[in-house]
Amino acid sequence: MKDSGTQEHNIEENTSILYENEEFQQYTEEALRPGGLELTRKAVEIAGFPVGSRLLDIGCGCGKTAEFLAVECGMEALGIDISEELIAKAKARNSALNVQVGSVYDLPYGNDSIDGVLTECVFTLFEDKPLALNQIRRVLVPEGKLIISDLYIRENAQAFARLPMVTCINGITSQDVVCQEVAGAGFKLKEWHDETPVYKGFLAGLIMNYGSMSAFWESLVGSCDKACTIQNNIKKVKIGYYLSVWEKE
Ligand SMILES: C[S@@+](CC[C@H](N)C(=O)[O-])C[C@H]1O[C@@H](n2cnc3c(N)ncnc32)[C@H](O)[C@@H]1O
Repeated sequence: MKDSGTQEHNIEENTSILYENEEFQQYTEEALRPGGLELTRKAVEIAGFPVGSRLLDIGCGCGKTAEFLAVECGMEALGIDISEELIAKAKARNSALNVQVGSVYDLPYGNDSIDGVLTECVFTLFEDKPLALNQIRRVLVPEGKLIISDLYIRENAQAFARLPMVTCINGITSQDVVCQEVAGAGFKLKEWHDETPVYKGFLAGLIMNYGSMSAFWESLVGSCDKACTIQNNIKKVKIGYYLSVWEKE
């Protein structure tokens, strides 16, 4: 049986979920996205959180960022994720992590109680962005920071045929659209960095690991035809990666 993450995305029972794929988790060493913890470190530095800040990682997956924030950065780190499977993995690796199952749409934290929120390769997965941003804004302290790092369309923005699986690629939009959505929800943009080189490095690693991008997609969707369709869809737009820091207005 699929977990609650599947229901959240309203997808068919047998559709694969990229970040719940074991081989993908091994390849990324459980930081399930481009950039890894180096990009997290950069984000924390840009946001300028003092040691001891109360930081919430939404869509924390296997808990690598929450662990990094607590152990390496001296923060009070919390994590929440819709996937029971990934939260179980996080707790199995480090039982001291303060992570729990839950959704961005109903955050179990008080108003004005969190100094900073991180969403790393998660924003594209939020189907109801106004509700997600409203919840994030509610829990952040005044002038609290929101970090969003994710995939985006750098060129050839156009309607994007959804891939037959759960992956961030399905939710990609342009920088303009991301900025309208987040600014429209009451956040001020502090910094936007294009981080496409880390995405390209991530793809290069996938090719080394799987042999080719077609082999990577085929391992997930189980058919050569579906893998080709995915490759052709992706070629239509130029995908990049960004890191952005926002402040609650
Ligand atoms: C690509 S993974 C990134 C995981 C983690 N941020 C990392 O960098 O390793 C996306 C994560 O978002 C979670 N997610 C998706 N929708 C969510 C929601 N509505 N609320 C909370 N988490 C969600 C997924 O279960 C998954 O763990």
